[in-house]
Amino acid sequence: MQRLEALFKKAARSDAELLRKIQGKEDLQLLDLACGACNEAKTLASVFGSVGRATGDNRTMRFVGLDVRAREIVEAGARVSGDTNSEFEFINGDATKLESYKQLPGAFDVVFMRHQNLWDGKRTWEEIYHKALEKLSPNGRLMITSYFDREHLEAIDVIRNQGGELLVTEANENSRNLPMPGRSVDRHLAILKREG
Ligand SMILES: C[S@@+](CC[C@H](N)C(=O)[O-])C[C@H]1O[C@@H](n2cnc3c(N)ncnc32)[C@H](O)[C@@H]1O
Repeated sequence: MQRLEALFKKAARSDAELLRKIQGKEDLQLLDLACGACNEAKTLASVFGSVGRATGDNRTMRFVGLDVRAREIVEAGARVSGDTNSEFEFINGDATKLESYKQLPGAFDVVFMRHQNLWDGKRTWEEIYHKALEKLSPNGRLMITSYFDREHLEAIDVIRNQGGELLVTEANENSRNLPMPGRSVDRHLAILKREG
């Protein structure tokens, strides 16, 4: 997870607004879409500041994770349950129907999708990207990581076709190899915003 944190910080050097979100003192709302068991929850909390209740610097971060798989969402909740300084919320739900989760804030400063899965179903993921862009605040950032090169490039293309503007794409030089050739953990990270 330290590698993911380092990757975020490296990418933020090319995006002043993301750097501001990382270093700033303002409250922040973060949505982790298709989060699975959300191994990255505490890393994101560490990168973007304290989660939950107001802390010494008065910054509050609201963290919401959502995935369609119930078992993974239970696991995600268990993973952070001992964290008494933090308030995480996990929803077992369908990201293509994001507007139906009325408990969600209208907009998020950061929407993250770790290992987006375009090649698992283009129609579904087109819809997920579309809903993710809709949920961004005006200066919000959509961040994706990918396991392999072609899927990453195609995901960026699809998001651009949905009205996303690519700001940064960063290859992860410390990505951990997976058994399948050409695949590795958080192999690429891209940062996008809503066009216009
Ligand atoms: C490649 S996994 C990535 C999981 C996690 N982010 C990670 O990096 O380990 C893709 C995830 O997308 C989720 N997913 C697929 N379709 C979804 C949908 N319509 N709504 C929410 N999650 C979905 C799957 O359940 C799975 O957890």
